[in-house]
Amino acid sequence: MGDIARHAPEKDTGEDIYQYLLERITNLENRNLELREQFRQIESEKRYIETQKIRYERELRKLKSEIEQLRSPPLVIGTVTDVIDNNRVIVRSSAGPRFLVRTSQLIDPDLLKPGARCTLNQQSLAIVDVLPTSYDAQIYGMELVESPEETYENIGGLGPQIEEVREAVELPLTKPHLFEKVGISPPKGVLLHGPPGTGKTLLARAVAHHTNAHFLRVVGSELVQKYIGEGARLVRELFDLAKQKAPSIIFIDEIDAIGAHRNDSTTSGDREVQRTLMQLLAEMDGFEDRGDVKIIAATNRIDILDRALLRPGRFDRMIEIPLPDHEGRFAILMIHTRNMNLGEDVNLSEVARLTEGKNGADLRAICMEAGMFAIRMEQDTVGHEDFMKAIDKLSLDFDRHHFHTTYGEMFA
Ligand SMILES: Nc1ncnc2c1ncn2[C@@H]1O[C@H](COP(=O)(O)OP(=O)(O)OP(=O)(O)O)[C@@H](O)[C@H]1O
Ligand SMILES: [Mg+2]
Repeated sequence: MGDIARHAPEKDTGEDIYQYLLERITNLENRNLELREQFRQIESEKRYIETQKIRYERELRKLKSEIEQLRSPPLVIGTVTDVIDNNRVIVRSSAGPRFLVRTSQLIDPDLLKPGARCTLNQQSLAIVDVLPTSYDAQIYGMELVESPEETYENIGGLGPQIEEVREAVELPLTKPHLFEKVGISPPKGVLLHGPPGTGKTLLARAVAHHTNAHFLRVVGSELVQKYIGEGARLVRELFDLAKQKAPSIIFIDEIDAIGAHRNDSTTSGDREVQRTLMQLLAEMDGFEDRGDVKIIAATNRIDILDRALLRPGRFDRMIEIPLPDHEGRFAILMIHTRNMNLGEDVNLSEVARLTEGKNGADLRAICMEAGMFAIRMEQDTVGHEDFMKAIDKLSLDFDRHHFHTTYGEMFA
């Protein structure tokens, strides 16, 4: 019994140990698997964190350099006027005066040419960097990216004028061979002139709408600048950009702002305006081939324009945009009442007859006023009576306005 008792446990123990070991091995294997899994997870976590770290480091560098940039003093912009030798250059700072300065060793000497724009250290005015030839931001603003909504159909009564503009501006750009065949050089540009509010700007906008060429638009007064030579530079850059983007059309509205008679005036402001005009004349002469660049200008003061601007070879075509005649007024009224809810009794021909001497802008105002009268009376449609009231009101406003100018003159 004692033997049995001794053996049995022994046998039992063998089994047990075997079982125990087996269990332990399985356990350990499981554990091993678990740990391996954990290891893999931690490994991938580590990789993730490492990339995260790299990212943060990159961001840190970026922020540091940004702080550095924000801390660095502003650089003065200047223009190279003369290169004396590798080391010494004459620059004109944007504020005006000229300086003999040194250049940084890192600058490619080939880039240092008269006319190049560069940045200068504030204290020593040494050239730090040469800027890529870029145009004034103002010049880029002049380019029309979206074409205006006006079309030729929105212009009333200027049929022959529209035809002339298209002939002078669009034809040379779209069908240059016609001019080659006949053997004449196409017109360089057109000047639209006539009383205010007759549709000059409108016509130019319609050209911009219909053309596929690049359209650059500038108002004469924008070219009048504060510092000497800046206006001329703007004109030059404007033509440069137009040339680069050719075929293109430059539209100079209210050209009388820079194109007025040159006289012996002595204020420096006048002289700067004259310089700008001279640059414009030179650009229009096109010492270099101007390529496919056409110019449209508009003014309501052709009487004060400089004779040099008016001679053939500059604006080859002067197109007068006159006050509309009866037919023209009727056409303009038709255009501006196109979207209006008109009553049966409205007689636009009668309205046109009563508005002798009014321009397109007046007629548009009359249509709007008539609409306002209808709204005031809570009508759905605009009646003939509203037009009559609108004409009266506008004439009255005009008279009052006229009174003001004589009043002003009296005290001038
Ligand atoms: N012929 C026209 N047909 C239709 N609308 C016209 C016409 N003429 C003028 N208008 C209206 O009058 C507005 C003013 O015209 P626009 O700006 O073209 O005048 P402008 O001739 O350039 O005058 P300014 O010489 O004062 O610059 C236009 O927006 C348009 O609504
Ligand atoms: Mg205008």
